[in-house]
Amino acid sequence: MSERPVLVFDSGIGGLTVLREARVLMPDRRFIYVADDAGFPYGDWEEDALKGHIVALFGKLLQRFRPEISVIACNTASTLVISALREAYPDQPFVGTVPAIKPAAERTRSGLVSVLATPGTVKRQYTRDLITRWAQQCHVRLVGSTQLARLSEIYMRDGFVDEAAVRAEIEPCFIERDGQRTDIVVLACTHYPFLVNRMRKLAPWPVDWLDPAEAIARRALALLPSSKGARMAGHQPDQAVFTSGATSFASERLMHGFGLTMAPGTSVAD
Ligand code: DGL
Repeated sequence: MSERPVLVFDSGIGGLTVLREARVLMPDRRFIYVADDAGFPYGDWEEDALKGHIVALFGKLLQRFRPEISVIACNTASTLVISALREAYPDQPFVGTVPAIKPAAERTRSGLVSVLATPGTVKRQYTRDLITRWAQQCHVRLVGSTQLARLSEIYMRDGFVDEAAVRAEIEPCFIERDGQRTDIVVLACTHYPFLVNRMRKLAPWPVDWLDPAEAIARRALALLPSSKGARMAGHQPDQAVFTSGATSFASERLMHGFGLTMAPGTSVAD
């Protein structure tokens, strides 16, 4: 039985929303959580630079951890680099995270759907193609948020939420047209589910906030052989790696809360 870990990757803490679902579905697996905090936020990067950066970083990560599968728990990265990763590392299975536009289009009653994401994800051709392919019959509003990923990082580390800032970021998601109102907001950044209770509180009317974390974890499970008994007694603990190598008390505490032990950083320069 393989003891190779499942690697879960994001620019920051957002991928923890996927990790917690993956843990429930795969309690016998060992997990490595990688936060590319040296590159955070991905939403602000130029596409070519970000692509090159992530492909190079994965060269180091695959060598160091030899994961059985890698979950790119980041929409901003997946919508840009998933094909390049598969091409560069053909022996490594990758699971991506892309905006849940198809399920939103299937579930909406009003036909008004909003996609809340980083400016990077909103700009991607990949995201536009998802709309053309699955949501032609809907009115899809793309809302790029420059602040929510940062606000979520602050909330998870320090417990503080600037509610006025959250309200301002989600406000453009809510539209009224021909007597109908937006009824689904797709959380197309893995950081956002951490703030969803505040979003519910601050929303002008109730909507369904679509979080794809469980679906991503299920996809990873489907691609892996049965893991029953894979986690042996005396096994190495699940680990968190921050690419900056710098850790704060608040980050360590947060990782500890997610059952992760801090490991030394890996950067592109290593
Ligand atoms: N968590 C990432 C996502 O799902 C983005 C956060 C960032 O801007 O780096 O898109």
